[in-house]
Amino acid sequence: MAIAYLNGEWQAPEDAKISVFDRGFMFGDGIYEVMPVYWGKVFTLEEHLLRLNRSLNEIRLVSPFTDEEWRSLFDEAIEKSGEETALLYLQVTRGIVSNRSHEYPADVKPTVLITVTAAPGLERNEVLPYKMVTKQDFRWSRGDIKVISLVANGLLKNEALAEGYDDVVLLRDGVVTESSASNVFIVKDGVIVTPPKSRYLLHGITREQVIQLAKTNSMELEERDISEAELVDADEIWITSTGHEIWPVGELNGKTVGNGEAGVTWQMMDSLYQASKKARLLQ
Ligand code: PDD
Repeated sequence: MAIAYLNGEWQAPEDAKISVFDRGFMFGDGIYEVMPVYWGKVFTLEEHLLRLNRSLNEIRLVSPFTDEEWRSLFDEAIEKSGEETALLYLQVTRGIVSNRSHEYPADVKPTVLITVTAAPGLERNEVLPYKMVTKQDFRWSRGDIKVISLVANGLLKNEALAEGYDDVVLLRDGVVTESSASNVFIVKDGVIVTPPKSRYLLHGITREQVIQLAKTNSMELEERDISEAELVDADEIWITSTGHEIWPVGELNGKTVGNGEAGVTWQMMDSLYQASKKARLLQ
């Protein structure tokens, strides 16, 4: 059952209401996180809290809760939802300022929304490789802050969908940044490569998990720029995100990637990822 927490009240998400003067609504002035819930527990909770605090800090928004308070709110939300496999969405906006002005007072009370909704997609009964298309990354240059304003991401994703693709690989100044809502990896001659952390891309929690898994399992991995030529020539391409975990790409710009199926390195990394979830949550 989907559940929402809005500023201290628990209700069905469709009943939750915010003011038109909420700066999240008026200006897209807020931060969000999406966390995966497996077996009724948040996976990579500490990493998500770290990123949440970093994002809030970057937009000068003082966190309304301590980490301890966040943890107990998340536990309560999951318990109330009764869901085992779900996505926990968290949004903190700068709050309600009842005249529309770019300037905000220092003492606004932030708006806090948490929802837990079932995510059967996380059970991954079928992993069909994606068809992707490259496009120019015209988003703002602070992709490292998880802001709720996602107009550009939505435009790019929907352009790709309208053209018959599943999603987009973004290029800025000739190098890969990320996808519309996920990070990008390639594999060439057995070496896994992903763009380094920068201001232009989100520092994905799933991305970091993959990097750590490669390290602890002696798989070769490099964090460095990926040119368009390298991307097109890759043996494997993957995207990573909370909702997709690690997802293979079978086609890029109408050309088959590898043999069009999920590659051998993907198979290996995906098994490691599935095992790491169990190891961390079911001890
Ligand atoms: N998207 N890059 C962008 C632009 C994203 O929006 C996301 C996540 C990622 C991957 O981050 P993580 O592995 O921490 O989920 C990369 C979330 C899931 C969303 O907007 O729904």
